[in-house]
Amino acid sequence: MKYREPPGTAACDSFPNAPTASPSGVAHAENDAAGTLYLGDNLEILRTCIPRNSADLIYLDPPFCSARNYTLTAGKRNGETDGAPTAVFTDTWRWSDQAEQDFQAVLKENGAVAETARALRSMLHESGLTAYLLMLARRLLALRTVLKPSGSLYLHCDPTAGHYLKIVADGIFGRSNFINEIIWHYTGGGRSKSRFSQKHDCIYLYAGSGNRVFNPDPIRVPYKPTSGYAKSGITSKAGKRYFPDPRGTPPDDVWDIPIVNPMSRERTGYPTEKPPALLERILLASSNSGDTVLDPFCGSGTTLYAAQKLGRRWIGIDNAPLAVQYSRQRLLAAFPGIVFTVHAAMEQRETMCRLSPA
Ligand SMILES: C[S@@+](CC[C@H](N)C(=O)[O-])C[C@H]1O[C@@H](n2cnc3c(N)ncnc32)[C@H](O)[C@@H]1O
Repeated sequence: MKYREPPGTAACDSFPNAPTASPSGVAHAENDAAGTLYLGDNLEILRTCIPRNSADLIYLDPPFCSARNYTLTAGKRNGETDGAPTAVFTDTWRWSDQAEQDFQAVLKENGAVAETARALRSMLHESGLTAYLLMLARRLLALRTVLKPSGSLYLHCDPTAGHYLKIVADGIFGRSNFINEIIWHYTGGGRSKSRFSQKHDCIYLYAGSGNRVFNPDPIRVPYKPTSGYAKSGITSKAGKRYFPDPRGTPPDDVWDIPIVNPMSRERTGYPTEKPPALLERILLASSNSGDTVLDPFCGSGTTLYAAQKLGRRWIGIDNAPLAVQYSRQRLLAAFPGIVFTVHAAMEQRETMCRLSPA
């Protein structure tokens, strides 16, 4: 049974419900539904519900191996704290039977990713970090299957494990498909007195395997006020004149985008939420109108919100009931009349419907 969320309401369905791929391979081909939200473990959902070669753009913002567990306090959105914290998701890792299973599953893939897994285990031993990297290796393998050859994948992480993840991702997508390391630089928050304050995340961009979309024009930014080129252009040695583009210049790989201001209306209050401006730049650059955008760790639904705003179809997955609840409420509030589908296991459905965003 499939269920389409009627405009302006929040409802959920039982899972699993594998949507059928259309002949064009478009995922969640459910007539006019704008997108699909899944509550559950993304590994399972990617394998059972998302057709192969169906996503034009994948953005993933998984836990970063931060050794923290994230909670949410009711009312926190406006800086108040009027309730007991609710656990949302964990980001603490240790070696376990699950990690051993992940290791064996990655070895079965053979090739570079299996070699990388062996090397990481030998170097980092049976540690929490190794368990974390293997968890993500399995999910990146599943994502490779659902990514179109012409698609792009953005892997968001930070310096805690990013350097290891890059090796894992190179083994899965191929070094030749690595396109960019984007540094997302933000300001705000406290400053360390004992080291340089960490104020950036890393985002690795990989191509599927074929020609990918890249649209520099919609993401142009103003030239720096100090740019001489912006004022008068330049003349090459051969005498050719180059003039500045009135629309500005395509951004380089260091992006200054503020985090969501705690007092802004844009803020959902979900821990680790990313700014819509970051996702809008990624979607504009690497997808076209009508394309399918997949976020397998969707949290508060920032990617889904940006996709809906920009006319892309979307698929969001999260295993935290609160995340799915935040995402659906956010979409319903921002886009009155929106029609989308929610799949949730029966037992999780009740939890999700009990929880409501702060
Ligand atoms: C860093 S947050 C994503 C935040 C999101 N980008 C936003 O803007 O709100 C990571 C999310 O991954 C989810 N998650 C962790 N492990 C998962 C899994 N195995 N399957 C699905 N979701 C998972 C967590 O519940 C959490 O919401």
